[in-house]
Amino acid sequence: MATLATPETDYAVLPDLPADVFTAPLQKPDHVSDDWLEPAQTDYSSDDDAIWNDLFTRQMKVLPGRAASAFLAGLEKLDLGKGGVPDFGKMSEELGALTGWSVVPVPMLIPDHVFFWHLANRRFPAGNFIRTRETFDYIQEPDVFHDVFGHVPMLTDPVFADYMQEYGRAGWKAMRYNRLKALGALYWYTVEFGLLEEADGIKAYGAGILSGPTEIVFATEAKSPNRIMLNVDRVMRTDYVISDLQPTYFVIESFEDLYRQTVERDFDRLYNNLPAAFTYANSAVIDVDYVVNRGTQEYLLRGGNGSGALPV
Ligand SMILES: [Fe+2]
Repeated sequence: MATLATPETDYAVLPDLPADVFTAPLQKPDHVSDDWLEPAQTDYSSDDDAIWNDLFTRQMKVLPGRAASAFLAGLEKLDLGKGGVPDFGKMSEELGALTGWSVVPVPMLIPDHVFFWHLANRRFPAGNFIRTRETFDYIQEPDVFHDVFGHVPMLTDPVFADYMQEYGRAGWKAMRYNRLKALGALYWYTVEFGLLEEADGIKAYGAGILSGPTEIVFATEAKSPNRIMLNVDRVMRTDYVISDLQPTYFVIESFEDLYRQTVERDFDRLYNNLPAAFTYANSAVIDVDYVVNRGTQEYLLRGGNGSGALPV
C-alpha cells in the first residue's frame, strides 16, 4: 500500500505517490529510472563549451553591483568561469565540501515529487543539455546554463543551502494537501526571482533573474515593478507570469529571514486555509504589504512581452 511521506520521513528512498495526489503528468524517457537521473553527464562539444563561455561573459557584464554578494562569491568559490560547461562531479566535490550539496544531471524538467526528493537529500537536479545559438536568448526548458550558473552558486551559502533542503521537505507536505501550486509560487518568488536587501541596495539572488541579461536590470533598477517585502503567506496566494518580466518582486532582509519564515510557518494550517487557485494578481499591492517601491507598471500597461514596450 502506497504511503505519502510524513514529517518523520528520512527520504533515503523515494516515497510512493498515492493516486489522490495531483501532479503534472510527464513522460519519463526509457533510459532513466524512477529517480530520473542520467547515468552520466553529457559529453559537450567545443561548440557547447563556447556557448557556455559566451553566456558567462554576457552575464558578467551586467551582474556585478546587481547580483547578491553571496551569488558572486559562489561563482568564485566554484570557479564557474574557468571555461566550458562545468563538470558536475568536480563541482559536486567542491560544493559538497562547502555545504554538503551535489549537482546531478537530469534529461529535462522532472516530476515535482522526484525534484522535491532530490532537494530533501541535498541533490540539485540540473538540465544536462545546453541551448543552441538559435535559442541563445530564450529557452522554454531550463538548460545547464540556467541550472548551474543560475542556481548552483547560491548553494554555496550555508543558510540558503538549508532553505533549499527545507523546500524539498515542504514539497512533500504540500502534496498531501494538493497545494503544489501555492508552494510553486513560493519557489518562483524566492529561488527563481528573489531579491535581497544589502547594505548598498537591492540585489538579486533568484536564478531566473541571474541567468538572463534583461531581467537583472529590470528587477533591480526599473520603475515598473513593485518591490514588496516577502511574506510567505501572501506569496503563496500570488499568481505569477512565466514568459515575461515579473510585475512584482519580493524582497528578503537576509537568508536567515527566508529560512525562518519558511521553517517556522505551520504549513498544515496554511494549506488548510489556501484556496486551490491564486487570490492575488501578480501586479497587485494589497493592504498588508510592506512596500519597498510601488511600481508604475508602465511595462505591463504598455503591453509587456512582444508589444515593443521598453523594460523601464
Ligand atoms: Fe530554475
